[in-house]
Amino acid sequence: MTAKTVPVIAIDGPTASGKGTVAARVAAHLGWHMLDSGALYRLTALACLEQGVSPADVEGAARVAAELDVCFGATGVSLAGRNVSEDIRREEVGNLASQVAALAPVRAALLDRQRAFRQPPGLVADGRDMGTVVFPDADLKIFLVASVEARAERRYKQLIEKGFSANLLTLLRDLEARDARDTQRATAPLAAAPDALVLDSSHLSIDETVAQVLAWWQERASLAGA
Ligand code: DC
Repeated sequence: MTAKTVPVIAIDGPTASGKGTVAARVAAHLGWHMLDSGALYRLTALACLEQGVSPADVEGAARVAAELDVCFGATGVSLAGRNVSEDIRREEVGNLASQVAALAPVRAALLDRQRAFRQPPGLVADGRDMGTVVFPDADLKIFLVASVEARAERRYKQLIEKGFSANLLTLLRDLEARDARDTQRATAPLAAAPDALVLDSSHLSIDETVAQVLAWWQERASLAGA
């Protein structure tokens, strides 16, 4: 199997649409690899914070992205040998990630690293530009959406369950700002690929959303085998 023939399911969509959870469940069901591309932007943001590199320093941020010493393992993700799985989920890091993700040289620096995840038997990749830029030849492209209210409530519940304090209105405003930045940026803006299937999960449970993605994949796979 060459890298190009390894099947890819691309799941794109806005912040907190549930892409990560859905992608992980679909990957586990199929026994495939998983790429959480947002984690790479969050890792770049965290490394920038720690090295005192501002997102205004485009070359500096791109260098940080190119030199990321990252390892994805069973116990989470590590940066220079330190487990940072919790750190990269902080709202502050997410906001900075959205700023560094708007920089074309940062995106270019992370491209090959993302494509290297395409390994047999298959890859489920989640992000913003999986179906448009990183894996334009993906076998199935999903654009997962949910209303900003539904997403703010989900994020609120997640944070409270983890013992963090949270304010629903602040989360809602942050999501709106991040959506605007992700959709309006010049490089690889958040947009559905023309051949993506749009799935609105505002009123769906995770199980229902996963079931729909798997049903679409089975349809594709049986058509390809026919
Ligand atoms: O999916 P997430 O919230 O973990 O992503 C963090 C930020 O990274 C988000 O603001 C958008 C950006 N991102 C991106 O621009 N392209 C991707 N493929 C994934 C994430």
